[in-house]
Amino acid sequence: MCGIVGYVGKRNALPVVMDGLRALEYRGYDSVGVALWDGAKIKFEKTIGRVASLEEKIARKPWEGKSAIAHTRWATHGKPSDRNAHPHFDCTKSIFLVHNGIVENFSELREALLREGHNFNSDTDTEILAHLIERPFLAAQKKILLEDAVLEGLRHVNGTFGLAVMSKNDPEKIVVARRGSPIILGIGIGEYIVASDASAVVNITKNVVYLHDNEAAALMPSGVQIFNLPDGKASLSKKILKKQIDTIDWDIAQAQKGGFKHFMQKEIFEGPSALENVLRGRLLDLPSALSGGGGGGIKLGGIAQIKEKLLSAKRLLILACGTSYYAGLIGKYYFEEFAKIPTACEYASEFRYANPAIDSETAVILISQSGETADTLEAMREAKRKSALTLGIVNVVGSTIARESDAGVYNHAGPEIGVASTKAFISQLGALAMLALFLGKEKNTVSPALSEKIVKELKGLPNKMKRVLGKDEEIRKLAEKYLKHKNFLYLGRKYQYPVALEGALKLKEISYRHAEGYASGEMKHGPIALIDENFPTVALAVKDPIYEKTISNIQEIKARNGKVLAVATDGDEKIGKLADDVIFIPQTLEILNPILSVIPLQLFAYHTADLLGLDVDKPRNLAKSVTVE
Ligand code: G6P
Repeated sequence: MCGIVGYVGKRNALPVVMDGLRALEYRGYDSVGVALWDGAKIKFEKTIGRVASLEEKIARKPWEGKSAIAHTRWATHGKPSDRNAHPHFDCTKSIFLVHNGIVENFSELREALLREGHNFNSDTDTEILAHLIERPFLAAQKKILLEDAVLEGLRHVNGTFGLAVMSKNDPEKIVVARRGSPIILGIGIGEYIVASDASAVVNITKNVVYLHDNEAAALMPSGVQIFNLPDGKASLSKKILKKQIDTIDWDIAQAQKGGFKHFMQKEIFEGPSALENVLRGRLLDLPSALSGGGGGGIKLGGIAQIKEKLLSAKRLLILACGTSYYAGLIGKYYFEEFAKIPTACEYASEFRYANPAIDSETAVILISQSGETADTLEAMREAKRKSALTLGIVNVVGSTIARESDAGVYNHAGPEIGVASTKAFISQLGALAMLALFLGKEKNTVSPALSEKIVKELKGLPNKMKRVLGKDEEIRKLAEKYLKHKNFLYLGRKYQYPVALEGALKLKEISYRHAEGYASGEMKHGPIALIDENFPTVALAVKDPIYEKTISNIQEIKARNGKVLAVATDGDEKIGKLADDVIFIPQTLEILNPILSVIPLQLFAYHTADLLGLDVDKPRNLAKSVTVE
């Protein structure tokens, strides 16, 4: 949801921020722009389109300078256009800034600034910020530090921001500030890079400082100063902060395509290692005799400190968005089945405004790949205000949800760049299964024998996943066969229902085909009216205790001339006679079936989009990390 990057230091800043933009492009790709201090003035270029369009524009410009800021946009206020592209500037073109977030009191601020005589060059909320920062410079006849002007300007702002500012009035400096949108500072030797996330930083340094909400920093070649945004609107005094330097534990190679055509394809194929990584060191599969009847144990270091509080929770509430929400729906079944704790799963965006009845006896589980999704983050804060225990299942280390939740389980799935989430979903299911088993074992609602069985199966699952991935070519042919269809129904029951929702979401997101995910049993209450030979159904018909019910639903579709592409379990002879096409997956335990059955749906969506020639990794209108409400 907009990517920002800035650099101050010894190198030519232009290629550094352009590399950063390429890494951040998944966050938004409506327009793009850069501003550079060349030692005498600030040069800038911006354009509608993607990073490649900006590259073309600056290709013949021999720009050099030691500090620069840049931006890739996901439009909120003002449609994508050259004039609405960042950086934005003030009336005298002395302040340039890039912004991720939303200025909520934008209209009233704009009115007030117009009355003061400011002129606007765009329709964006962001431009307001440049004018607000210009005012203190004017008032002090430029005798003010950029960071102080930024602090003064921000006092008037309601809303969210992650922003980077430069000014010719106080050059060779970048000031950044954060409220609600992520900012990470890379601390090099004699150089500093700032960005919305680590992927734009790792090329320069692995030493980072995570800026918290209401913190700001001034980056200069001589060093960095971090301080608090002043409390309230009255005070301007800033408090200098000492912050811990963390080390990023992954490599730039992990954020590259590694021979695959698209990131999404690479990440689907990383599913088995994503599962291995989330399980690593957390499964204790000693035989029961050796572990005193405690075989199949789960060790989750991240929740050790809150274990007692978690075990005393009367109910669980899972909150998430998008794909993470669908993982949460499966998690609900896990917690109820294994830990016997009443569990609900809600969209974070709905929970926030529903005046939810939760209290200190509720444990809230936040699932988020990025750890920055605005709705999930605010839902967590709302839950904390209501005294609930909060647990994060988060992939991005050091992200806001990971930091602000009481405890959690990291996914360790590595960077996920494709906008449509794939390996993170697999990893989230692994984390949820472990958490449910952990609670079940502690509460004695799961027998050691069952736990051992699940742990053993989990360990073998990556190999079974690889067998499903081996069907890639077969699934591409099926995508080709179904390519002419514009509408799809995805059906599943119990554990397969959220998988149907996720499969439909994948197809919608990247191939722009209409796809509706539905609970198989509900089909007869509506969607069945849509069925004809042009409206195919993807049916999740794996061997589980409710298999026969699913078969009946498929019969109902066939009776209405509907085409059926089924995902079924190896050795199922019945399904072949019924469905038009079948993708077989290996046999596993009922609870683990989703980890296998989602893979063909991910591949089907991927190949459909690729065959249609669409931009798989950057689907239109979407962004990877949605940091606005
Ligand atoms: C966006 C992405 C989805 C993702 C969702 C939640 O919509 O396009 O792929 O599932 O956000 O993101 P999170 O980072 O919170 O899991």
